[in-house]
Amino acid sequence: MEFEKLIAERYSVRNFEDRHLEKEVIDKILFAGHIAPTGCNNQPQRILVLNTDAAMEKLKKCTTCHFNAPTAMLICYNKDESWVRRYDGALCAPVDAAIVTTHMMLAAHNIGVGSCWVMHFNPFKMREEFNIPENLIPEALLVMGYPSENAEPMDLHFKTRPIDEVVFYDSF
Ligand SMILES: Cc1cc2nc3c(=O)[nH]c(=O)nc-3n(C[C@H](O)[C@H](O)[C@H](O)COP(=O)(O)O)c2cc1C
Repeated sequence: MEFEKLIAERYSVRNFEDRHLEKEVIDKILFAGHIAPTGCNNQPQRILVLNTDAAMEKLKKCTTCHFNAPTAMLICYNKDESWVRRYDGALCAPVDAAIVTTHMMLAAHNIGVGSCWVMHFNPFKMREEFNIPENLIPEALLVMGYPSENAEPMDLHFKTRPIDEVVFYDSF
């Protein structure tokens, strides 16, 4: 799909068909995340794929924003593998994880898979349910699947601030 069309069309899908994604489809989405740029190319992302009814039932204990999706991916980062900015100690890894997530979200749309980025989950519960090791920090959850016939964007999708509210030239 043409890139302009892809980014204009994509919206957060919260209504899915009741069928799991095929392995080839998951692999295409994962590949897009795999080749995403990361700080110093450290690739600190660790991705947990959930694509069974049992795993999705466990996910429901961790978030109300599961939207009964058939599939999800939890994008974590390894806090011990982050590039660190020495001036202020800022970690690059959460940014890396967000870029990986964005690549996957757009790649998913490109092949007809809808997704919703979810931050509203309980990270403690997530750790418990999915045996997440201490050095991995869950950063983003992508719930995904084929959009159902009546899937549509929420009002929020259309509330874009005027561009001059968010872009500045030369100085703030
Ligand atoms: C970092 C991030 C966190 C988000 N967390 C949630 C969430 O927890 N629950 C939810 O329903 N949507 C969540 N969203 C989706 C946003 O609400 C949505 O992207 C935004 O309203 C714009 O709508 P659109 O994606 O349909 O264009 C999140 C999106 C981003 C980028």
